Amino acid sequence: MSSPAPTPGPESTFRLIYRSRNKIPEEQRKAELGRLFSAARSSNKQQHITGALLVQGDWFAQVLEGDEVAVSALFADIEIDPRHEDVSVIESGRAGPRVFARWAMARVSADGQPDIPLIAHEDGISPAAGRGTTPDQEAILAIMREAIRTGAPTR
Ligand SMILES: Cc1cc2nc3c(=O)[nH]c(=O)nc-3n(C[C@H](O)[C@H](O)[C@H](O)COP(=O)(O)O)c2cc1C
Repeated sequence: MSSPAPTPGPESTFRLIYRSRNKIPEEQRKAELGRLFSAARSSNKQQHITGALLVQGDWFAQVLEGDEVAVSALFADIEIDPRHEDVSVIESGRAGPRVFARWAMARVSADGQPDIPLIAHEDGISPAAGRGTTPDQEAILAIMREAIRTGAPTR
């Protein structure tokens, strides 16, 4: 491909959401996820990829946004990453403007220290009072949480 890439506008954002099962042994999770996030953020920044990774119990759900070729290439790598299994795409396709534009990879967890101000609740997570997520972010996080909930072997 020798022709110059068109300048990506908001209309060209590609979004992919998947769910997978965390295979990192419990005792290694904190350190391994720390490494994963810091590597992912610096690489995503270079690729102009944004998104969020929800870590909840034995499950991951991730949203990736950016250029279609870049997102697809990253997902091809992610799919074969031995740190998780049962990777299944929830939705993918062209979307409107980026929803997680500020985040090279936001960390969202029910029990951790999220970047996006979300607080833990008994039945999942919801925006912290005051500094909430945007409605668009909440809509995507709801899809991710639902994917984890319905994918879990026990409810
Ligand atoms: C749940 C999960 C999410 C990941 N998210 C990203 C990500 O957003 N960006 C990234 O560069 N790598 C991410 N990775 C790591 C990739 O799978 C892969 O290790 C990384 O792209 C480096 O690939 P390389 O060694 O071929 O360069 C993730 C891995 C897992 C298990």
